[in-house]
Amino acid sequence: MAGLKPAGLKPSGLKLGVLISGRGSNLQALIDACAQPGFPAEIALVLSNKADAYGLERAAKASIATAVVSHRDYPGDKPAFEAAMDAALRGAGVELVCLAGFMRILSPWFVERWQNRLINIHPSLLPSFKGLDTHERAIAAGVRVHGCTVHYVRPAMDEGPIIVQAAVPVLGTDDPHALAERVLEQEHRIYPLAVRLIAEGRVRVDGERVVVEGHVPGTDAALVNPAA
Ligand code: GRF
Repeated sequence: MAGLKPAGLKPSGLKLGVLISGRGSNLQALIDACAQPGFPAEIALVLSNKADAYGLERAAKASIATAVVSHRDYPGDKPAFEAAMDAALRGAGVELVCLAGFMRILSPWFVERWQNRLINIHPSLLPSFKGLDTHERAIAAGVRVHGCTVHYVRPAMDEGPIIVQAAVPVLGTDDPHALAERVLEQEHRIYPLAVRLIAEGRVRVDGERVVVEGHVPGTDAALVNPAA
């Protein structure tokens, strides 16, 4: 019957475009989540600005379409670089763009074009510790609680409505590497969670705050805003 997929195929969900620059462990968490029966999203395209990003191999292994748009092919021409990425994402039918270790700063043009359809994962409890070297800086600042954040992207770096956060205690014995590992484990939990909530249509942006509709089960360490 028209509109029905053959039995055994996963019904399609929200189409994701995942932007990477490197190892792609968060991409892997999204790949694994999307492979679960009933997960309401699928990855339509993995796009890297680096041809040697390990995440591209992860995508290929999962038979996911990949594209490389290298910033080096557009020296001094960020608008053309971003237009090429935008065209690749639109060509793949992407509905939600997920930044997953994508190491280029996006212009207001790109961010506004994907307004509230562009999310990022950052390894700190925003708005603390924007930028790089978050784990070193958290230890140096003596904070007792660190963590990670999934948020909608706004033109200013690491700003935007917070969708999900997870808190990670900082131990007296922590060095940046050990702390990063424990934060990364939580990243791999909350990125798929945030995508699922969005794909289920439960995430609303109210001003510059996110409201998540309904209860989110099993999210003891994941702080959904507002708390469930
Ligand atoms: C993660 O820590 C993420 O929070 C940050 O960049 C890192 C990417 O790691 N934005 P991976 O490529 O997903 O393994």
